[in-house]
Amino acid sequence: MDPTKIGIDQDFFLKTFAALAEIGRDPNGQGYQRLAWSRAEREAHRWFRNQSEQLGFEVWTDHAGNSFADFSPLADSEVPALTIGSHLDTVPYGGAFDGGLGVVAALTAAKAIRDSGVPFKRPLRVAAFTDEEGPRFGTGLLGSKAVSGALDMDLVRQAQDVDGIRLQDAMAEFGCDLESLPLVRQTLKRFYGYIELHIEQGPRLERAGLPLAAVTAVTGIRQIRLTFQGKSNHAGTTPKEDRQNTLRAAAETIAQFSAYVDATDNLVANPGRVQVHPNATNVVPGETRLDWDIRSPDPQLLDQATRKLAQLAQAASAPFHIVSEDKIFHDVPPCPLNEKWTGIIEASAKVLNLPITRLVSWAGHDAGVLGRVIPSAMIFVPSRDGISHAPEEFSSDAAMLEGTRLLTQTTLAILTERRAE
Ligand code: GLV
Ligand code: MN
Ligand code: MN
Repeated sequence: MDPTKIGIDQDFFLKTFAALAEIGRDPNGQGYQRLAWSRAEREAHRWFRNQSEQLGFEVWTDHAGNSFADFSPLADSEVPALTIGSHLDTVPYGGAFDGGLGVVAALTAAKAIRDSGVPFKRPLRVAAFTDEEGPRFGTGLLGSKAVSGALDMDLVRQAQDVDGIRLQDAMAEFGCDLESLPLVRQTLKRFYGYIELHIEQGPRLERAGLPLAAVTAVTGIRQIRLTFQGKSNHAGTTPKEDRQNTLRAAAETIAQFSAYVDATDNLVANPGRVQVHPNATNVVPGETRLDWDIRSPDPQLLDQATRKLAQLAQAASAPFHIVSEDKIFHDVPPCPLNEKWTGIIEASAKVLNLPITRLVSWAGHDAGVLGRVIPSAMIFVPSRDGISHAPEEFSSDAAMLEGTRLLTQTTLAILTERRAE
């Protein structure tokens, strides 16, 4: 028998995507500012819950500020739900597509499956996760980590943004209690598995001329803060041999470690943020904090790189009589995705007559956290010019609709699988 094919409501997708794209748009046309626990991000969650209610789904939230919309044809509400979705926060000056696509596509897929009347054997859930991105508090993937029980509460308690606002206070402003985050883990038993549609955020699909990819693994991400401690002093009068210039040590570390990374396959690293104290042209900077983002799908390479970075920072500090300290503040291990479900994505693409390839994701995703505790899978659609985390981020309507069709078909295939009792 031919597998069931169901259509999606394209107008619903396009209108809903356009409505979400109104929230948190930068007033100067510089993309989006839906940073975690900002008014705009919380507004996007409220919008999501309203949309879901209008569709007749049952809406709930948790202590992490995640929002969910459930639809179940079953009398037994204890059966774990197949969950589809993404996140609603953006990086500063981010795009409308990273996260937004996955949430709107999941609503569209859930609506299509519900309207089709096809009988299925599990509840279906649409998820909008909190703080996937992390640049504000350094707490990326907070929502999915809370669900999977992977949160480091010590780090979360210390988290604050550049303005000194503590995560705890930012959450409290929206009625969420940071100390209740560990309770979120109790909801994990309500999740059967997770599927996320996302833009690729890189150039590989576009260059290959292919519309879709099934993701085989999500990269590991380690973010490390190097703190160089020297002594502030006068930029003119301090003798050369007395200068404890922490910014020079940081710059030397950037050069040395970048050369190591460039010569190592399967490893990338980004020196993305520097905070210099006192940040004045005529003062030798007495303290510099340098934040690195290091990625690899290979956990051993991540460990090697971490050791190398600390060594190089110390070596760069020695000539300036500076002390350097390294601290991991965000750590997500690499995550292979579910092989069987990746195969179901490919089989579903075949049903829809759509070409598909396989890719590793070098971006982090909630699927890379949930994939450690429940079966998880991902679908990518092309990003124009491979640009993401920038205002120019773009994927065409046609590409997004193809991805949404594949998400719908894959979700249906898994929902209609026989349930092991
Ligand atoms: C999140 O999008 C990341 O890859 O940093
Ligand atoms: Mn994303
Ligand atoms: Mn992102």
